[in-house]
Amino acid sequence: MTAKILDGKKMSAEIRASIKEKVLLLKEKGIVPGLAVILVGDNPASKVYVGQKEKGCLEAGFASFLHRLPGTTSQEELLALIDKLNADKTVHGILVQLPLPRQIDPDTVLAAIRPEKDVDGFHPVNIGRLVAGLPASEPCTPKGILRLLKSTGIPLSGKEAVVIGRSNIVGKPVALMLLAESATVTICHSKTADLAEHARRADILVAAIGKPRFVTADMVKEGAVVIDVGINRLEEGLVGDVDYEPVAEKASWITPVPGGVGPMTIAMLLENTLEQAEKAGASGR
Ligand code: GUN
Repeated sequence: MTAKILDGKKMSAEIRASIKEKVLLLKEKGIVPGLAVILVGDNPASKVYVGQKEKGCLEAGFASFLHRLPGTTSQEELLALIDKLNADKTVHGILVQLPLPRQIDPDTVLAAIRPEKDVDGFHPVNIGRLVAGLPASEPCTPKGILRLLKSTGIPLSGKEAVVIGRSNIVGKPVALMLLAESATVTICHSKTADLAEHARRADILVAAIGKPRFVTADMVKEGAVVIDVGINRLEEGLVGDVDYEPVAEKASWITPVPGGVGPMTIAMLLENTLEQAEKAGASGR
């Protein structure tokens, strides 16, 4: 089997075009969706991501408030900025780019964001709501992955889903979302015995480990749907967590890197921010 490509770039462009139209309608009511992004320090990958988020905001017609803080910023200074943004009615979403410098505790910072403005879905309240199956601000990368999976038309109910990676940003939340779709979910990680054996059972295989070409063709079942969340910057360029060409020979669907999951993350961030702006408009918040 040769896999069909799950084109996240195209899907993201369609979603962003639809968001742009909704923004025009909101603007007629005097509401401009506003996203505040905070970048602390100068992590090169974070700078790229934050640049993409700002560009996405501006193209969609959002107000973008980018706060670049020096790597020496104290936790108190960051919390003071978050307090200010929590109270700012023009800001509907707040995103603190991770990772943060060592002197700042990410859990304290993420918990300081008002849950209604937590467009990353990382606040304990939103994580709890996700676990409980209640409506929540959903983390952007997992939400984008689910959108890509649903676009295949393949029912997720009853499928064997294997997630490789247990991060709070991708692995854990995507596993919960697949569970909510009634898939049978296994989470594999660095201590998993016989990881390849688990992977080979997967109808849906999500690779989110940050190891270049970790998933090889012998770990993939014929006809599986393979989602590659990896963005590994090597000298030869961007490489995913999946050994793309040989795996594409076996899979039924596969996401490319770049152009798969990455663009969907930005589209979902814009969607989450738009939803909060709409809710704030409806409640006069
Ligand atoms: N760092 C890597 N991915 C993400 C993300 O989705 N959100 C934030 N805030 N930081 C990240």
